[in-house]
Amino acid sequence: DVPEVAVIPGDGIGHEVVPAAVEVLETVGDYAFTEAEAGDATLDETGEALPAETYELAATADATLFGAAGESAADVILPLREAVGSFVNIRPATAYPGVDALRPETDLVFLRENTEGVYAGHEDRLTDDVSTLTRVVTETASRRLGEFACEYVRERPEHDGFTVAHKANVMRETDGLFRDTVLAEAERAGVDADTVLMDAFATHVCLDPDRFDVIVCPNLAGDVLSDLAAGLVGGLGLLPSANVGDERGLFEPVHGTAPDIAGEGVANPAATMLSAAMLVESLGDDDAGDRIRTAVEGVLSDGPRTPDLGGQATTREVTDAVLARL
Ligand code: NAI
Ligand code: MG
Repeated sequence: DVPEVAVIPGDGIGHEVVPAAVEVLETVGDYAFTEAEAGDATLDETGEALPAETYELAATADATLFGAAGESAADVILPLREAVGSFVNIRPATAYPGVDALRPETDLVFLRENTEGVYAGHEDRLTDDVSTLTRVVTETASRRLGEFACEYVRERPEHDGFTVAHKANVMRETDGLFRDTVLAEAERAGVDADTVLMDAFATHVCLDPDRFDVIVCPNLAGDVLSDLAAGLVGGLGLLPSANVGDERGLFEPVHGTAPDIAGEGVANPAATMLSAAMLVESLGDDDAGDRIRTAVEGVLSDGPRTPDLGGQATTREVTDAVLARL
């Protein structure tokens, strides 16, 4: 049977990079695509940023490819991650040969908790002067992430352990529970694990990214630290991500809608194509994933390149170059 892939471009450059990645998918395999709407434009038209049909589609398709949503991002992406039952967001940050990177030796994978922390917290405005945010961390979600992290490094010989980034010296209860639970899983599974304070990590990773490999972090920390890593490897146009659940996943570039370049046809499609590589791997086709990655890496190395990487090529030209290699 042909896997069903939901396609949600969203807003802005989502409409440029997602179709490019769909062309790549069409070249490496047989997939039944269904397109659906979400985002700011959908909110304007229908009154809802994420229509029920789109949520249902993501909740039932074998995999979903998502671009980005604009100001309504939180109302789109958080429910979509929930629709696919995702508990971890995998964000590799790799510097590719030929790309001008601040730290060309960077090769990191962030495993970000995807269901709780401040992003699932409850915010209140108590008075004119005071606003509050309640943050939720559970042993259940922390253990699930810890189990996943152990499995992730054990299945991949290139990784020999992971680092837990946390701030348990200040947030003793929440980050303390997170850190201790993930470490306990590592010990149970016999996987090497160490810890780092997340603020110190931000410094160390800039000065010496080689010190780190797989980083397991709470939700907000994973968001911020992986964007920081994007800066080390040459920009947001390069970072893919996978929101993994037990049955299905949602695959999306780390970047947003890039309003400053949207509509110009010059968005870098690499992050979304690399997300598509993670998508086909989630469907069991590791060979197609390797093919996509090799083709994208070849184009990053030899050009053509989009302006964010110092080139002058359009999204179309880069896509054609990737398709030619495939
Ligand atoms: P952004 O990622 O859209 O853009 C940041 C900078 O990176 C811009 O200069 C942009 O041109 C550049 N950039 C990003 N992706 C690129 C690509 N593929 N090729 C070339 N250049 C690229 O982040 P920003 O500006 O903070 O947010 C813009 C909008 O996107 C906001 O409305 C925000 O809410 C939304 N957003 C949505 C996300 C999602 O749907 N997952 C994630 C992050 C932001
Ligand atoms: Mg982000």
